[in-house]
Amino acid sequence: MALGTSVPAGTAGSPPSRDEQWTPGIVQSVSPPGTFDLGPGYLEPALLPVGLLDAAYRQALTEFGTAALSYGADQGALPLREALAARAGGRCGPGNVLVTGGISQALQLVSTSMAAPADVVFVDRTSYDLGRRIITDCGLPLREVPGDAAGMDPAALVAAVAAERAAGRRPAFVYLNPTFHNPTGAVMPVPRRRALVSAAAEVGLLIVEDDAYAGLGLDHGELPVSCAELAGYHGVIRLCTFAKTLAPGLRLGWLLADPSLVGRLAGHGMFVSGGCVNHLASLAATVLVRDGCYDRHLRWLRGQLRARRDALAVPLRHQLGHRVDISCPRGGFFLWLRFPDGEREPDLLAAARQAGVVAAAGSRFGTVSRTSLRLAYSFNSPARLTEAASRLGAAWETTAPSS
Ligand SMILES: Cc1ncc(COP(=O)(O)O)c(C=O)c1O
Repeated sequence: MALGTSVPAGTAGSPPSRDEQWTPGIVQSVSPPGTFDLGPGYLEPALLPVGLLDAAYRQALTEFGTAALSYGADQGALPLREALAARAGGRCGPGNVLVTGGISQALQLVSTSMAAPADVVFVDRTSYDLGRRIITDCGLPLREVPGDAAGMDPAALVAAVAAERAAGRRPAFVYLNPTFHNPTGAVMPVPRRRALVSAAAEVGLLIVEDDAYAGLGLDHGELPVSCAELAGYHGVIRLCTFAKTLAPGLRLGWLLADPSLVGRLAGHGMFVSGGCVNHLASLAATVLVRDGCYDRHLRWLRGQLRARRDALAVPLRHQLGHRVDISCPRGGFFLWLRFPDGEREPDLLAAARQAGVVAAAGSRFGTVSRTSLRLAYSFNSPARLTEAASRLGAAWETTAPSS
């Protein structure tokens, strides 16, 4: 059947239903039937802008014609790099930008290009589990560095680097996630960012700054300046993505760094052979960013996420706040719950599952000082989140150790 005449699954002529589309083999994660899934850090289907992207792809094909279907410029299409550099502010220009296949691909690129196997990467004790996995899959062992509510401790980082060097191992970089941290939701204050930038510079250590959620501040107020901007884009690589603000299926992101480093990364055979990793998607994003649609979409999405955060956090705090420490993050996708001594992660997860709610185990994210769980508010409607909160409140009443 010729393309364009094919009929999608479902009723002839009507688009397939969400249940028909969200199946294993099509999407990565499918919620267990009948559950309230607060596990994945994804946007729920209702937040994915099918119409907007349909129009953007069509506009990109009309406007760029065959150039949209050729190999893209190795560093990424210039109009997108110009627009992203302008949004980054500071002294950033298009030479600072490399278009990537999202943060995951960028982190793998950095882990293979900026380090040799067995070089050491420094991370927060508790940090994005799959970021850790990408790094270790590249043969780089992790060293957890302690910190406090403000983030990683700069003096502890300096000491950890010295200890590795003394043991004959080469430090590769420190991986930070300073804005709306996954999983804790924390935002690192500017003085701590400054202190870490200068500590890393003092010991000659590269910073890799994962800024996956930077566009998703939900409350009023300025976000702190990025570590990359504080460092003038020297010695810091900042990783950004459209996965959390538009759609993960675009597989599109960008990194910001010193132009010489960007040139070095873009000189890899992978780019020279295949060009920009996601050229057509990058031109669709160009259209959206340039025409103001992306900013309008961001404003709408922030409102949607704010409603979801509050729908989960407010009733949960009301029911459990007297004994569970529940973060109310200023942005991003996640609530982070820390339970009192004596409560066990497997019991909490099992009780939630019994009540039909899936949560993410805190221990997935490295070392946690207290039993902790992560709840995503991005993947369900406000009504379902309120229902999930009520179920969790009841389920976890029974797990509390009797005093
Ligand atoms: C902190 C962080 N970094 C990176 C990613 C993945 O980004 P991408 O989809 O662009 O590869 C995620 C997604 O969960 C994340 O939470």
